[in-house]
Amino acid sequence: MTKEIRLNAFVMNCIGHQSMGMWRHPRDASRDYRTLGYWTGLARTLERGLFDGLFIADVLGVNDVYGGSPSAAIRAAAQIPINDPTMLVSAMAAATDHLGFGVTCSLTYEAPYVFARRMSTLDHLTGGRIGWNIVTGYLDSAARAAGMRKQIAHDERYDMAEDYMSVVYKLWEASWDDDAIVQDRETGVFAEPAKIRKIQHEGPYFQVEAIHLCEPSPQRTPVLYQAGASPKGMGFATRHAECIFINGPSKEVIGPYVRRIREALASQGRAPDSVLIFTMMTVIAAPTDDEAEAKLADYRGYVSRDGAFALLSGWSGLDFSRLDPDEQVRHVKTDSMQTAIDRFSSANPDKTWTIGEMADFSGIGGAGPVIAGSPQRIADELEGWMAATGVDGFNLAYTVMPECYVDFVDLVTPELRKRGVYKQTYAPGTLREKLFSAGPRIGADHPVSAVRAPDAETDRFGRLAPVGRRLVPGDPANGR
Ligand SMILES: Cc1cc2nc3c(=O)[nH]c(=O)nc-3n(C[C@H](O)[C@H](O)[C@H](O)COP(=O)(O)O)c2cc1C
Repeated sequence: MTKEIRLNAFVMNCIGHQSMGMWRHPRDASRDYRTLGYWTGLARTLERGLFDGLFIADVLGVNDVYGGSPSAAIRAAAQIPINDPTMLVSAMAAATDHLGFGVTCSLTYEAPYVFARRMSTLDHLTGGRIGWNIVTGYLDSAARAAGMRKQIAHDERYDMAEDYMSVVYKLWEASWDDDAIVQDRETGVFAEPAKIRKIQHEGPYFQVEAIHLCEPSPQRTPVLYQAGASPKGMGFATRHAECIFINGPSKEVIGPYVRRIREALASQGRAPDSVLIFTMMTVIAAPTDDEAEAKLADYRGYVSRDGAFALLSGWSGLDFSRLDPDEQVRHVKTDSMQTAIDRFSSANPDKTWTIGEMADFSGIGGAGPVIAGSPQRIADELEGWMAATGVDGFNLAYTVMPECYVDFVDLVTPELRKRGVYKQTYAPGTLREKLFSAGPRIGADHPVSAVRAPDAETDRFGRLAPVGRRLVPGDPANGR
């Protein structure tokens, strides 16, 4: 088989995620996002289509940059109201056997100790099917809501994220030995204290002394997803991520971007192909090209331009209500997503975009491309993107829910399978095993391996200090 196309559904626990205004469509069911049946039904559909994962985006804060007010976002249901993404996972895991769940959680507003337990819990409950999309947030409204004067500066958020990762890696990987649970009914010993360690962390942002509260879960560290795109963001992503998400309107934008990521991976000492790269895409499928184009035209009739502007303003940190729709898009440095606008302003030398064009383009599928067509046309396009850009797969954003995914599964996945570019069945094991044909634990070329041989408070075998005692240099007891 040529390179297998990997697929995630790209959703959010809200009404409007990337395609603003679709909730008004008579067939759209996104208002049911508040019910478990909506999510378990979706998970079953995706598993029927052998999707690798359901990727749940999230953002804290409201999109209040456009016009200096949240009104446009609120009117258009542009990522508000929005519920917690992690809460969905257990129900969907119970309804499926193989589907992976990539959950977006910001590390800016939650202590690593608390967060690490939530992820371990989900890794247990899903049987090792959990992933974490590491984000640092981009809305100033979230910082103000969390009691800060303003958002932490863009690059510093990544410095803080580095420190955060060290803490959660230690908790997940170094606090409990695999054989710590002995569960000996005779002796009454459930877990062996000598095999459970207090991790010590003295970093620039976090000082932590803790025993992880959870016993080792199937994957320990969840599969790590990241989407940093600025120079600092790409450095972070290529150091930590196992799957990288990117986004751009055309192959001409995405191809060079993929090459830069692979080069950056190599310069970090990681194999360039060891990371799966997914690009965002919106697909509208129907039995024939004409029917699909008619469907897209129908959807376009429901687009909320104000909703699209509210999102673009939130992503970029620029108030689009102050810009002339005929003005050319230019790079501006802000504390939000620095590359949200660059995808349009500078990435493609052959095209200049106006503000109005960018809003219209984004109305369906956000800043990503839209493909409408028959199964054959869509399969041609997806294969063409894979070949031209070197991506490993796609994050498929939704339009009208759930019909967009039902159509994809019923019409497009059989065509992909027929062409030998899509899996015939799921591989066994955890999400990491399914994605990488490797073990359930994160690989040795990853920074996690540094905490497996911990750098602080180690005994003479490089192990962390046993529970309840600090290491004393020269103490023979150090060597258990
Ligand atoms: C496909 C894709 C999905 C993303 N999903 C989220 C998300 O759910 N929540 C979030 O806070 N940021 C999300 N982001 C934003 C990234 O985490 C990151 O902030 C962004 O790519 C800009 O990175 P940069 O500031 O380093 O350029 C996403 C980005 C991309 C490309």
